[in-house]
Amino acid sequence: MKRDLITVNDLTVPETLALFEAAQEYELMLPAERLRLRDLQAARQCLLMFYEPSTRTRISFQVAAHAFGMSTCVADAVGTSVVKGESLTDTAQTFGAMGFDLAVFRHPEDGAAAQFAREFACPVVNGGDGCDSHPTQALLDCYTLWKRKLLKEGLQIGICGDVLHSRVARSNARLLNRFSITPHFIGPPALLVNAPAGEGSKMGFLASLHTELDPLLPELDVLIMLRTQFERHGGQELVARDEFAAGYQLNHRRLQRLKPKAVIMHPGPVNRGIELADEAMADQRSAILEQVANGVFVRMALIALLVTPEEAL
Ligand code: CP
Repeated sequence: MKRDLITVNDLTVPETLALFEAAQEYELMLPAERLRLRDLQAARQCLLMFYEPSTRTRISFQVAAHAFGMSTCVADAVGTSVVKGESLTDTAQTFGAMGFDLAVFRHPEDGAAAQFAREFACPVVNGGDGCDSHPTQALLDCYTLWKRKLLKEGLQIGICGDVLHSRVARSNARLLNRFSITPHFIGPPALLVNAPAGEGSKMGFLASLHTELDPLLPELDVLIMLRTQFERHGGQELVARDEFAAGYQLNHRRLQRLKPKAVIMHPGPVNRGIELADEAMADQRSAILEQVANGVFVRMALIALLVTPEEAL
């Protein structure tokens, strides 16, 4: 039976840890060992169906697929019959008939990846849908923490900025909760989610909510800054940019208040001068480019797990 990754909950905790172990093995491989992976899936094809733009997710899945010799086809909404009105169901069935072995799928609406997966014959990975789920981002973020031995109860992790529109925040919270970590969601009231904290959370995760970043800064082991997703703000200025920067931008003053060993993260792409000042990008504690590199290895491990589990490593 085919297996999809629509949310982080589609992997058990032991499977998630095994995925991290596999990703690390790929990461530590010597070039000659990596070359031997090239024939593993040379006969297989991966579809990258992206209804929204992407640099990191799309290209790193391509790099990961090519590492196994898989060929890839990229489709976006603009260059396909989606613009002629073809439905999601018909699009999935049409691509399904072409004999792909795997699809990575991104869409602006919550639940679209599950809908696509129901109609597509082969495994589907959610490359981000709506404001709800971006499981491979959460996996690579937690892999980044796991490598530092930080993925354990007691970790103080802040997720700051445009939480309301962030599938990265929600997916990370779900995954962190499974490791007994409750993240702090931080942002202006207009950009915070509605009460995910406490019993009866309808969103499937727990987080504590904060409208101020400064008091938390000295306590945090990890700070994930989020992209302000202006494209989801409906043309409105939900928070004035200078007001946001004054309260939440990670800048020189705030960098000085973070722990010397704190880890600074951001899923990218970064709005420089809004959520991050240039000095935060350049700070020694930034793991932002390491996150990008880790994304390739985590996605390699995921492809191996979903497409050919018997051939993984
Ligand atoms: N983090 C992330 O999903 O980036 P892209 O939109 O560039 O894929």
